[in-house]
Amino acid sequence: MCGIVGYNGLLDAKEILLKGLEKLEYRGYDSAGIALRTNEGITVFKEKGRIADLRKAVDDEVAAGIGIGHTRWATHGVPNRRNAHPHQSASGRFTLVHNGVIENYHLLQKTYLKGIPMQSDTDTEVIVQLVELFSNEEGLSTVEAFRKTLSLVHGSYALALLDNEDEETIYVAKNKSPLLVGVGENFNVVASDAMAMLQVTDQFIELHDKEVVLVRQGSVEISTLDGRTVERAPYTAELDMSDIEKGTYPHYMLKEMDEQPGVVRKIIQSYEEKGELAIDENILAALNKADRLYIIAAGTSYHAGLVGKEYFEKIARIPVEVHISSEFGYNMPLLSENPLFIFISQSGETADSRQVLVKVKELGYQALTITNVQGSTLSREADYTLLLHAGPEIAVASTKAYVAQIAVLALAAYVAGKARGNVIDFDLKQELAIAATAIETIVDSKDVMEEIAADYLKIARNAFFIGRNLDFCVSLEGALKLKEISYIQAEGFAGGELKHGTIALIEEGTPVFALVTQEQVALNIRGNVKEVVARGANACIIAMDGIQEDGDRLVIPHVHTLLTPLVSVVPLQLISYYAALHRRCDVDKPRNLAKSVTVE
Ligand code: F6R
Repeated sequence: MCGIVGYNGLLDAKEILLKGLEKLEYRGYDSAGIALRTNEGITVFKEKGRIADLRKAVDDEVAAGIGIGHTRWATHGVPNRRNAHPHQSASGRFTLVHNGVIENYHLLQKTYLKGIPMQSDTDTEVIVQLVELFSNEEGLSTVEAFRKTLSLVHGSYALALLDNEDEETIYVAKNKSPLLVGVGENFNVVASDAMAMLQVTDQFIELHDKEVVLVRQGSVEISTLDGRTVERAPYTAELDMSDIEKGTYPHYMLKEMDEQPGVVRKIIQSYEEKGELAIDENILAALNKADRLYIIAAGTSYHAGLVGKEYFEKIARIPVEVHISSEFGYNMPLLSENPLFIFISQSGETADSRQVLVKVKELGYQALTITNVQGSTLSREADYTLLLHAGPEIAVASTKAYVAQIAVLALAAYVAGKARGNVIDFDLKQELAIAATAIETIVDSKDVMEEIAADYLKIARNAFFIGRNLDFCVSLEGALKLKEISYIQAEGFAGGELKHGTIALIEEGTPVFALVTQEQVALNIRGNVKEVVARGANACIIAMDGIQEDGDRLVIPHVHTLLTPLVSVVPLQLISYYAALHRRCDVDKPRNLAKSVTVE
């Protein structure tokens, strides 16, 4: 969701910015633009649509060593060229790109900018106009005018600003939205995500909220909003270009589904100490001290959280509540005496989850973040982090991160349960390894999933996913995958619940996918399948080896009952993928969606 890049150095800024923006495409956007500082001043190019459209619009002849760029995902103002970033001040002296939402932009506009005609419908424009106003009317230097503007702004922002009268500096600031500085020899860069600038450096400096940074060719000066200097050393990003390239795959989503067995194995390796699974002892102490865990997450991560509840309750015997982050912060339930908050977030940047984290930290509670992105906001601001080790997930639809979240949740619950002396009659390391092999078998049977997608979903208007217990949690995720990439209306239900109303929607040919992996409720869910078939449904039973019956459409390998979500989700991901392909949907970049949802 929106992305920022900036380059200050000796090379061709235009190409570096465009390549950087291409690497941010996965986050979701509807328009893009760049501003380049040339010998004649600052030149802006922007377009609605894809980076490819922007590339066509950019003048090949323009040469510049300094520039800023942006991909926009519309929040204020429709997606069009006028609202695309960069935005410029009335005189054209200042040029700005912004990621985030300025909540009080209307008030700021009414209070300070009455006589100034706005050139866009965005909240962003007030910032660049205010910088110019304070610099003209109060004679402030650019950095002072920038600071004064930021002190008035409420909301989230990652900003990069150019001043036509300063040939050396990119002015940068952040609050609640992600932004990093990348350092190199004879150049420095800024980006929302390290991936955008891996082409030129793997050395990055984290920025904290309400810091202002002057990025010059040979220096990076960080200070707080009130002017105190901050020293912070760079770290090396543990990514390489091959992690973020598609290779020979037609889509990132397909590549990422194929990576799932490797991700589970990597998790076993990463959390192994002296042959045993282990987590940091402070995290273990926090888990075991808590009288209740509150799992907070959104979307797919919320679905993983539902599975995590089963693990912590069944293996570690700690009570758990799972909440949708956008609800929790504004409607907090009565909390237990000694809660521990667990944030699950692939990106580590989801604004809905972050607003909860801020509130629970204000209340003085401890928080653990389970994320794929080291150094992300949710990781930095929580007391503890468990990493997913899934490698960058680029496709908007989350697949390998979900599997990684479930594996890490199982691992944390298992280690906590062992430390509490609970009787645990299985070896998780071994069971995870078996699950990894089972996932491999499924991803190797893509032709079967393609056939199922064609048979059940080619012309479907809607679809249902049903299951009981853990299969219910996975049904929710299966339905989300299908709707987000194929646009087929899909719902996940607890098998027994359909008959309480929704069964009215079942008509001749309605596809119903039923998961049967939980032996103790296998007969019940099969009963629910009979109910829908009697009303005309086209049922597709996906059963686990050992409890399958004649007529089941797909049999998946046998794994430990608790680990079935790791495996049963994979055919649902693949079936959704092929359904989306049949419908010629843009699998990696579904409409209206963003990978990293950095606004509430
Ligand atoms: C769906 C999907 C989203 C995310 C949700 C939370 O495929 O990816 O539902 O799970 O936006 O994102 P994170 O996990 O980054 O907090």
